[in-house]
Amino acid sequence: MLKVQSLGGYIHEYQKSVTQPEIFWDRIAESFHWKKKWDKTVEWEFKTPDVKWFVNGKLNITENIFERNLFTLGDAPAIIWEANEPGEASVTLTYNALFEKVCTFANALKAKGIKKGDRVIIYMPMVPEAAVAMLACARIGAIHSVVFAGFSSSALADRCNDCQAKMVITSDGNFRGTKSIPVKAVVDEALETTTSIESVIVLERTKIDVSLKEGRDFWWHDVVANASSECPAEIMDSEDPLFILYTSGSTGKPKGVVHTCGGYMVYTQYSFLNVFQYAPGDVYWCTADVGWITGHSYIVYGPLLSGATTLMFEGVPTYPNAGRFWEVIDKHKVNQFYTAPTAIRALQAFGLEPLEPYKLDSLKVIGSVGEPINEEAWHWYHTHIGKGNCPLVDTWWQTETGGIMVSALAGITPNKPAHASLPLPGIQPIIVDPDGNEITGNNVQGNLCIKYPWPSMIRTTYGDHDRCKQEYFSTYEGLYFTGDGAKRDHDGYIRILGRVDDVINVSGHRMGTAEVENAINEHPLVVESAVVGYPHDIKGQGIYAYVICDMENRSEASLVNEIRQTVTQIIGPIAKPDAIQIVSGLPKTRSGKIMRRILRKVAEKDISNLGDTSTLLNPDVVDEIIKGAGL
Ligand code: WT7
Repeated sequence: MLKVQSLGGYIHEYQKSVTQPEIFWDRIAESFHWKKKWDKTVEWEFKTPDVKWFVNGKLNITENIFERNLFTLGDAPAIIWEANEPGEASVTLTYNALFEKVCTFANALKAKGIKKGDRVIIYMPMVPEAAVAMLACARIGAIHSVVFAGFSSSALADRCNDCQAKMVITSDGNFRGTKSIPVKAVVDEALETTTSIESVIVLERTKIDVSLKEGRDFWWHDVVANASSECPAEIMDSEDPLFILYTSGSTGKPKGVVHTCGGYMVYTQYSFLNVFQYAPGDVYWCTADVGWITGHSYIVYGPLLSGATTLMFEGVPTYPNAGRFWEVIDKHKVNQFYTAPTAIRALQAFGLEPLEPYKLDSLKVIGSVGEPINEEAWHWYHTHIGKGNCPLVDTWWQTETGGIMVSALAGITPNKPAHASLPLPGIQPIIVDPDGNEITGNNVQGNLCIKYPWPSMIRTTYGDHDRCKQEYFSTYEGLYFTGDGAKRDHDGYIRILGRVDDVINVSGHRMGTAEVENAINEHPLVVESAVVGYPHDIKGQGIYAYVICDMENRSEASLVNEIRQTVTQIIGPIAKPDAIQIVSGLPKTRSGKIMRRILRKVAEKDISNLGDTSTLLNPDVVDEIIKGAGL
């Protein structure tokens, strides 16, 4: 596998990847184990869109994790698991041990009727079995869809129904800090409205009482008890789906982003090795949850394809105290540490004391993902965690891109505070003006697009290809539109400016404003609502909701509480608005469109530049909203 070694090497590879992309990607893909080599490297057009990589190639991604690596790495640690409770022993699974678990569980899935192409929902805590479940699906060609275990039963049911999944893999409960969450009970509630789930496999984790429905629900330990540990890998086409991952967009319900076997495999390993400059024997830790794309690409697939040791952590950064991350780094001698700006800011707020007991001298590379990292957090992270001598990779990418697109390669290309910096070889980002014309040169700003396909890009949105076209390929003809604004600074480094659509980024979690509005509107007394993002010290963005309610003699405080409850029920606690303001009307244009710009300004507490409001349908409401916000 090609690992870039120097700045000159990067420049050379980048050039080559643009001038001769097929030769460039062929050479990288050749380091994998293919059952049958591809006929053509890439076939694509961005109109429909129709993108195929490594056309007619046959492979199984788990063979590339196990059979390809076992000869040299069988006894090497694949997964180190650190439990929520510091006192609970950590678990190390070697590649051999993980392989055995994956094959055994794969056979258990088969015995329950799961076959190639079936969809399987994984709704689990951060335990090694979550990775085992994903890999077991991949082994037999079933399409996994991991749903973050913080989502509510109704959000879970929506996802099960959207992809018509046959099975849910879950646990009895989930330990998170001081809390123990009754996961199976949430699944039971979801299953009241699912239309396709035939069976449920339940991992025992917290040992709470759960009810198992006869003939439908089975314990994990029972289904693996008599299963064989030999399971041949299903032969997959490069373009067969590997997984579906639901993510929020600017409109409607979350969409199922589809990633395929060949391209995703090639790009996650390539990007993992190059961005983190992983070396054999290193211990790598990404703190994300497997419910997000970061967990898929950079806890499970990228590292394991690379034969790396990947650490999985069950808990939260502040339990039992704000030193937990640092304790785990010292305990397992972590070499690469990858986390989110929101975690950094939250921990920074505790000061330097929680850091004092720890050396952190194993660290070689630190990374950031999920949202723009502000300069203050960047410097704190670089100085106090990286001790000033670890490259900090600020990695920009998306669920849809499958892998890291713009980032420094640790220690190879320069990093600059708050800048994602340079595209990886093979990635061709451009900045466009509102008409979609490329803006060249430095010191420019606009919308970020990608003009050439890359192996791990989204292929479709499950069950609705037109939505994929509308969301990503129709804003600018012939380009993939990211939804982000970006700047190329005077040195040519890319800085991500944040979303330019109706998507907000709360603690690195993506939320559609429309989705939150729909949830709020489920409250029987809500007439209409409008949701915007606003700057939040820790979360990056907070959720601000303006709500028109039928008050029915209720107090504002109780209504606000109920609305927050409703959102928790419909989506989950991560979507709970930080601020709810009850209003009598929303500022609208004469054509009835909500003027979100005004609402954003008020939420930001900046009313200096509201623009001309006199042409609004209801100009008076603006003053009322300003007053109501206490400004
Ligand atoms: C959106 C994608 C990619 C894994 C986690 C989030 C924002 C992501 C960065 C970064 C600035 C970033 C973008 C992007 N984002 N990384 N390094 N700097 N912004 O995945 O949920 O698909 O969200 O997160 O706005 O579009 P996601």
